[in-house]
Amino acid sequence: MLFAAMIFCLPVFADEGMWLPLLLQQNQEDMQRSGLRLTAEDIYSINQSSLKDAIVQFGGGCTGEVVSPQGLLLTNHHCGFDYIQSHSSVEHDYLTLGFWAQSMQEELPCPGLEVRFLKEMRDVTEAVLEGLSDDMPEAARQDSVKARSGRLREEFAGANIDVRVLPFYYGNQYYMFVYEVFKDVRLVGAPPSNIGKFGGDTDNWMWPRHTGDFSVFRIYADSNNMPAPYSPGNKPYEPKKYLKIDLRGYEEGDFTFVFGYPGRTQEYLSSFGVEQVLKVEDPMRVAARTARLEVIKAAMEKDPATRIQYAAKAASIANGWKKWMGEIKGIERINVPGSKRDYEKVFQDWAGSVSGAPYSGVLPALKSAYQEMEPYLTEAVIFQEHTIAPEIVPFAYSFQRLCQASKEQDKLEETLARCRAAAEKFYKDYNPEVDRALFETMMALVPAQDRMSDAEIKKMAASFYEKSLFASPQKMMTFLDKYKAADYKTIEKDPVYAYADRVYGEYSKSVYPMLMQCRKTIDSLQRLYMKGQLALKESGAFAPLLAGGQKKLVLSNVGSSRFYPDANFTLRVTYGKVQGFTPADAVRYRHYTTLDGIMQKENPDIYDYVVEAKLKELYAKKDYGRYANALGEMPVAFIGTNHTTGGNSGSPVLNGDGNLIGINFDRNWEGTMSDIRYDPEMCRNIMLDIRYCLFIIDKFAGASRLVEEMDIIE
Ligand code: ARG
Ligand code: GLU
Repeated sequence: MLFAAMIFCLPVFADEGMWLPLLLQQNQEDMQRSGLRLTAEDIYSINQSSLKDAIVQFGGGCTGEVVSPQGLLLTNHHCGFDYIQSHSSVEHDYLTLGFWAQSMQEELPCPGLEVRFLKEMRDVTEAVLEGLSDDMPEAARQDSVKARSGRLREEFAGANIDVRVLPFYYGNQYYMFVYEVFKDVRLVGAPPSNIGKFGGDTDNWMWPRHTGDFSVFRIYADSNNMPAPYSPGNKPYEPKKYLKIDLRGYEEGDFTFVFGYPGRTQEYLSSFGVEQVLKVEDPMRVAARTARLEVIKAAMEKDPATRIQYAAKAASIANGWKKWMGEIKGIERINVPGSKRDYEKVFQDWAGSVSGAPYSGVLPALKSAYQEMEPYLTEAVIFQEHTIAPEIVPFAYSFQRLCQASKEQDKLEETLARCRAAAEKFYKDYNPEVDRALFETMMALVPAQDRMSDAEIKKMAASFYEKSLFASPQKMMTFLDKYKAADYKTIEKDPVYAYADRVYGEYSKSVYPMLMQCRKTIDSLQRLYMKGQLALKESGAFAPLLAGGQKKLVLSNVGSSRFYPDANFTLRVTYGKVQGFTPADAVRYRHYTTLDGIMQKENPDIYDYVVEAKLKELYAKKDYGRYANALGEMPVAFIGTNHTTGGNSGSPVLNGDGNLIGINFDRNWEGTMSDIRYDPEMCRNIMLDIRYCLFIIDKFAGASRLVEEMDIIE
């Protein structure tokens, strides 16, 4: 009993939290107690090379890691997807068949793709906030912050250097990030989609999972090993650090940490904020997407060409849809609004006791700010999920630049060429009939106050899809081929263009600016609320909330002894352990999956579950080489209690020695509410086992030249 109580009193941070590597010293003891055999300095240092030097921001929303002395990079298949697709054609269908460069000469340049190494991060709170007070007018405060951040950026600027100054804890602190940007990044390899996307949207956000979600790139640099634009003469980049790969696997309970770029979390919202997500935003988006996906899926099932055209679009619509459904369920299951309200009562009482009562008004003010925002939020969601769901609407609107260039006679040729290219790309994956069904369905489902009558919708659909230039690929391409400046009048008279121009105009005039204004107000209130929460924690007055049976009711992050800043796509360490979970009564999920599970899911008639002949052959012969686990199985994926979110895709999963054992790629459905509230019992991150990744590269694809570059521990 006493013993149990003592354990309870130890400050345990593990599981929840996304920690700034710069401050990792504060977690070192806890991490070491949990199984880390490194120091904080081994993970993040600006004086010597450290693990951080092997981590990159990959493109605009993922993470990647360097795994060889020649700049070889691993990330997820879904992170490399666009680049794999852009190199694909009917003759070279790399998406379907996979791609493996046989030599460095065959590695494919990816225009537009950038990776960034963090050179340094610094606390610049003083420089940014000095002399600014909480009661000064918000606009003046923001102006100062902007000017001071700008000066810092100038001071640290340099060739191929990108400097960012970002708010933490809603602007109570500021950090500066100095990145080195590499622009010559080439595609080296990708498994076929039925490995890289195995299980597709059906298995997305779910455990047990069997997706080989990885792709391989390489960073190139100039002859001085410096960043340079693409040039055939560039050389593989020699990194300051690359990760070693450990094939010895893990046991349940083993320590792991994930080092990468989580995108966005909102752990410190008020009950009003959570209620709005739960009751307004998520349900509206889910309902709209359910209808939208039904239309698209029905069309995809009817026709194989449509299936290809709409596959990627359906995947991205479904990704958010499924996540929000899980989020609603999770928030309800652990009653987040209720526990936030309990916490807010304590906060409010305490606020009254603070001298000058600076925090007493913040919760009531937040409440009314959310009320004020709600109508704009609703309008914005209608616009995003209904109005512009028929693709013809945003597409037509993109012709505004052509009208403008025509009227101004400025850069007309260039704009026309861009529009023509955009039109080709758009029509390749566009079916006017499907889009018409989308228009009719999504308009009919607009919430009452804004809905048109059925007759109006029908009439509009007829004029759009039977008369508009935009609904006819042939007419549009001919029109563009013969385009002269005066033809902008034809565009402006087009029914779809006129409609798009009107709805975008209304949105950008009477919805978006108001919504932004409300968000700004909420953000500045959150800043004060956050400051209050930090002060409350310091005061210890929240302790009664943690006592006994109430503990579960309380914000879990209030229970930990240190707050962590919400994710904002900056480099973080999150750590936990390999662990299964219990999603429902009597159901226990094991912590890893194997190739046996792929064979159990196999179904040649269902696109998501087709298994490659070569993979079946390796399975039949149990030809796993050195990649099998101790039981002789081929492990595929595993789960743990690392607190991750979107953006952590592609992040390295490291063991206690800092060696690579997996690649993060998803979370479990039962735990997607962790962006708002982390529940250690139910939240798991999903990781690709590095042994499956190497097995596919080596045994399946025969790309052993890549494995030879790596430093492998067996
Ligand atoms: N759920 C993962 C993430 O949020 C994977 C998404 C890509 N896969 C898919 N089937 N849509 O990014
Ligand atoms: N698939 C997500 C990503 O692309 C990671 C899953 C999550 O949201 O945790 O970043």
